[in-house]
Amino acid sequence: MDLPPDTALPAHRGRPLQTEFNDGRDYPRLGSFSFRRGTLTDNQEHTWEENWPHLGRVLDENPVTASDQVIDLDSWFGRTGHPTIVEIGSGTGTSTAAMAPLETDHNIIAVEIYRPGLAKLLGAVVRGGITNVRMVKGDGVEVLQRMFAPDTLDGVRIFFPDPWPKARHHKRRIIQSGTLHLIASRLKPGGILHVATDHADYAEWIDELVTVEDDLEYLGWPEDRDTTVPVLTDRQIITKFEGKGLDKDHVIREYLWRRR
Ligand SMILES: C[S@@+](CC[C@H](N)C(=O)[O-])C[C@H]1O[C@@H](n2cnc3c(N)ncnc32)[C@H](O)[C@@H]1O
Repeated sequence: MDLPPDTALPAHRGRPLQTEFNDGRDYPRLGSFSFRRGTLTDNQEHTWEENWPHLGRVLDENPVTASDQVIDLDSWFGRTGHPTIVEIGSGTGTSTAAMAPLETDHNIIAVEIYRPGLAKLLGAVVRGGITNVRMVKGDGVEVLQRMFAPDTLDGVRIFFPDPWPKARHHKRRIIQSGTLHLIASRLKPGGILHVATDHADYAEWIDELVTVEDDLEYLGWPEDRDTTVPVLTDRQIITKFEGKGLDKDHVIREYLWRRR
């Protein structure tokens, strides 16, 4: 019997680099993303070949060479000292491409493991002449750990992370005590973490973790955030994933934290 393409791929347990944080916190254990495939259209391939070399990077997963890949933000964006926001799990980049033109003073870096999603965003960036977006292909936790120096980010966004609804898959959820600790370490003091979910059970999971990280002050979802928080918090657009949730009458929950 022929195996379906997904299961024919090599099993990949845990994260690609098997990072050993060993700090007693929980980190997501991903089992599935290496199974995700997808092809690009000829047009997307062409756009990718032409633009990825200057607008994109791929996380180096080779344990021998992976340690030294911290991004020089000023050099990559070709400007000095601008605030930087990282969006983890940008999907097809719908929110990224809608928000970036409203925050041109900010460097925006979309991190995604799914190449067709990045290709869509790349197309939107190129077509739209959006100059403040760059992309990284790789697992967001490893990317944060290896590609960003501590105290360098002004914002981290995680919009509609995969909910992993089955109890035995909860360990794969990206919001965990360890991820929150890592994000806090990459944010500058005053930097903002913004998370949104439409999944009631994931929201309960996040509710349990809102104060787990000492370096993150939980702000909730304040009414006056537009004046009190130094990054754009209006997501501008309903993404495909969000839309599916709304169709099922899901309630959107949004969370903000500030690095102490
Ligand atoms: C439910 S989708 C949401 C996409 C997008 N944020 C939106 O609102 O439409 C979750 C996305 O996160 C990506 N993802 C999951 N785990 C990730 C990880 N560890 N690092 C980077 N991206 C991840 C998935 O490939 C998927 O595109």
